[in-house]
Amino acid sequence: MRGQLLKLFFSLVITLFCLGSLLTTVIWYMVNNNNVEPQRPHPKKKSTPDSSDPSDPCKSCREVIDKVIERYSQTWRKQENNYQQFSSQLSSQCHGLDRAIITQANTPVGSKIVYDGDKKKTLKVTPELFSTFAKEHPFPNKTWDTCAVVGNGGILTNSSCGDIIDSAQFVIRCNLPPLGKGYEKHVGTKTDIVTANPSIFLEKYGALMGRRRPFVESLHSYGKSRLLLPAFSYGHNTPVCMRAVYSIEDFESPIQPIFFNPEYLQSLALFWRSRGLRAVRLSTGIIMASIALEHCANVHLYGFWPFGNHPHGLHALTNHYYDDRQTKTKFHSMPAEFDLLLQLHSQGVLRLHLGDCQPGEK
Ligand code: CDP
Repeated sequence: MRGQLLKLFFSLVITLFCLGSLLTTVIWYMVNNNNVEPQRPHPKKKSTPDSSDPSDPCKSCREVIDKVIERYSQTWRKQENNYQQFSSQLSSQCHGLDRAIITQANTPVGSKIVYDGDKKKTLKVTPELFSTFAKEHPFPNKTWDTCAVVGNGGILTNSSCGDIIDSAQFVIRCNLPPLGKGYEKHVGTKTDIVTANPSIFLEKYGALMGRRRPFVESLHSYGKSRLLLPAFSYGHNTPVCMRAVYSIEDFESPIQPIFFNPEYLQSLALFWRSRGLRAVRLSTGIIMASIALEHCANVHLYGFWPFGNHPHGLHALTNHYYDDRQTKTKFHSMPAEFDLLLQLHSQGVLRLHLGDCQPGEK
């Protein structure tokens, strides 16, 4: 009886051992069989300035820059048909000639402004607000011959592009950029419109809650130009932009404040979205380039280069020609915008300037 029990016990142990081995073999086979075809590595982050990936860390890759330069290097010639076609598509969808700027004609007392960055928010136009609007469009149906839109990219550093920028009939600048301190040789000084992001008022001028003279004095370098403010993009922009307007009036600064029309910004965002741009907000540069394309026969862009290295020589660049503050990639998709602008350059619709300029070039 005892012998039989022992026999049973050993057969159980052997059976369990065999089952275990079988199971181990099956698992081993499955694991190894999966590896017969080597697993594809996770797709590497592309080293191109992929339009759909604004957070691409490879801002400085040679490969990216080589591709851009390859597309850029063909001799540029204005293609009148392409320009006319693009400009009239913009006009028919966005009506920038009448609507880019808020005026007393397009936004009467009692009308409702809808904020383009927060569409649930509206503002009724009171007589006081109305009195701050431009009487009429500052450039009614005026077609300028040559316009320079100056972005703030570090590519302008030591570019010697000041003279050629200043030779344009109409010069547009972004975000109150510094023009003195030796920058003038590279970026020029002429200014017809300059934009200002309200974040500048918050960060540099204490939200204009205290002394306002330093702010008004900082505007001297833009002379009698227009200061274009996105006062109705977000609710919190309005009070600080109004403080900027009142400071300008109170100190009798010659600069003339005007406001972006949020209706126009909304239609412009849709226009670029229909061309594949998936950004939360358009950057100031592409907005101003779009306005220029409706108003100017020849549009030249300077300082548009959202990459960390110079296209020629590949030396490291700061993000702006005056500082290295980075772009908020959550909101803007500058490489994707650049890609679209480069397409327009290749089609002869506008001209992007990427290299240094010859001193004295006009
Ligand atoms: O207000 P935002 O952040 O759009 O612009 P910014 O940094 O003050 O620069 C003005 C414009 O220059 C941008 O909107 C871009 O169109 C252009 N820019 C560029 O192309 N590359 C850079 N590295 C910096 C600015």
